[in-house]
Amino acid sequence: MDGTINKRPVYDQEGFEEAERQRKIIEELKTDLHMPKKFFLATMGCQMNARDSEKLKGILHQIGSEEVPEDEADLVIYNTCCVRENAEQKVFGRLGALKSLKRKNPNLKIVLCGCMMQENFVIEKIRKAYPEVDLILGTYNLYRFPSLLQSMLASGENRGDASSKMIIDIWKEQKEIVEDLPSIRKFPFKASVNIMYGCDNFCTYCIVPYVRGRERSRKPQNIIAEIEALAQTGVKEIQLLGQNVNSYGKGLDEPITFAQLLRMVCRVEGIERVRFMTSHPKDLSDELIDVMAEEKKICPQFHLPLQSGSDRLLKAMNRHYTQERYLDIVRKLKAKVPDVSITTDIIVGFPTETREDFLETLKVVREVRYDGAFTFIYSPRVGTPAASMPQVDPQEAKKNFSELLKVLEEIGGENHAAYQDSVVEVLAEEKSKNDASMLSGRSAQGLLVHFTAPEEMIGKICRVSVQETTPYYLIGALESEVDA
Ligand code: SAH
Ligand code: SF4
Ligand code: F3S
Repeated sequence: MDGTINKRPVYDQEGFEEAERQRKIIEELKTDLHMPKKFFLATMGCQMNARDSEKLKGILHQIGSEEVPEDEADLVIYNTCCVRENAEQKVFGRLGALKSLKRKNPNLKIVLCGCMMQENFVIEKIRKAYPEVDLILGTYNLYRFPSLLQSMLASGENRGDASSKMIIDIWKEQKEIVEDLPSIRKFPFKASVNIMYGCDNFCTYCIVPYVRGRERSRKPQNIIAEIEALAQTGVKEIQLLGQNVNSYGKGLDEPITFAQLLRMVCRVEGIERVRFMTSHPKDLSDELIDVMAEEKKICPQFHLPLQSGSDRLLKAMNRHYTQERYLDIVRKLKAKVPDVSITTDIIVGFPTETREDFLETLKVVREVRYDGAFTFIYSPRVGTPAASMPQVDPQEAKKNFSELLKVLEEIGGENHAAYQDSVVEVLAEEKSKNDASMLSGRSAQGLLVHFTAPEEMIGKICRVSVQETTPYYLIGALESEVDA
């Protein structure tokens, strides 16, 4: 399960030297008697956050530390998210609970990382209220985790009293992209690959550009080398990750578009399925839709965040598209990729949202007929422009939110019902959580499918006949293995 990259990527000199330095420290930590041997890591954010967790786990795995449940760990790491307020509150809640755990086990080390740590007020609050935290690192220096662990161990026991030895290393920007760190993946047959970091879009509600920095694309050679190495270890499905994959390639010495990168990824032998997220509607090109229609390996799935259907709010959100332009893209997509499944993100209760604005969102939902949606009630984020716009009545937002969920569920249910008695191709991922005789996986469209099949099928692409449908998943039985 070790996804270490063995092909030599194209380095910037500085990034290369840094990776070498960290590798040496990993070797030293292996024999360090103070190095905790049992770790617990909580991933609290999006897929980027999850990908970062894979890298942290890869480093710990190489050092020889083993993953255990939280109450057995001597190293607890929270990889945090700050996109909405409740994500932050959860972290403070859990930190409160760790206080008493640390009183019982003074050897316990507490590490915080991820987007929330890039916010000044968070660091101040932790300094004052949670002095037992041992180490804080941010999003730009994740690759320095080995050397920061080493400094933490060297500083000895932190009892969280007045002489707190908390180590804080937060950078305000990225220095270099460091390639070639070890990482560990949940499944041996599917993997996520970052193609870019950061975001330059500054949607007015969103904190991501402030905590993840400016948009930076990885060189295509490095991305392809990573995917080739993954394919050699048996990976069949690749998900390309970026906050806005449609602007991939900007700023690279040799210009390349996302659509061109996709074609290169599809040429990698052994890779059978390619997905990507997220696609910002403003930069979506016809070229991308054409590539999706032509390349059979690209899954017919499109996550196209709408946020709002109201032109007035889209403008206030700084999204740079209108309802009409969005619907145009959807029409083109459906015409060229007929079996495409479209999902989205929607925010309810953005500042100044009226019932009329909300009805425009519902109108788009009814026209697009989404297969699924991530829905959020607007949460003001410190330092973003929308936080100082006139806020709406929370009761009104909640009412609209419930209505939206009802409409989405109804449409999702109807869309899924159309799969009844059809055959879908599913990459079997794991045993189903509720029924040991069943496996669970995703269809090419990205739909969750539970189906009766023997355990040996895990990791294989299966033909599944659909026997029952719900708004959230399909139920079926194995027919045969694809290409068996
Ligand atoms: N880069 C992606 C989204 C990243 S954040 C994109 O542009 O689509 C994931 C989702 O969280 C966003 O699409 C948005 O719907 C939601 N979100 C972001 N900030 C939010 C906030 N302040 N309140 C509520 N939802 C928010
Ligand atoms: Fe946030 Fe907008 Fe960037 Fe997405 S595109 S991460 S919503 S600022
Ligand atoms: Fe992701 Fe949350 Fe950061 S959504 S980029 S982990 S703020």
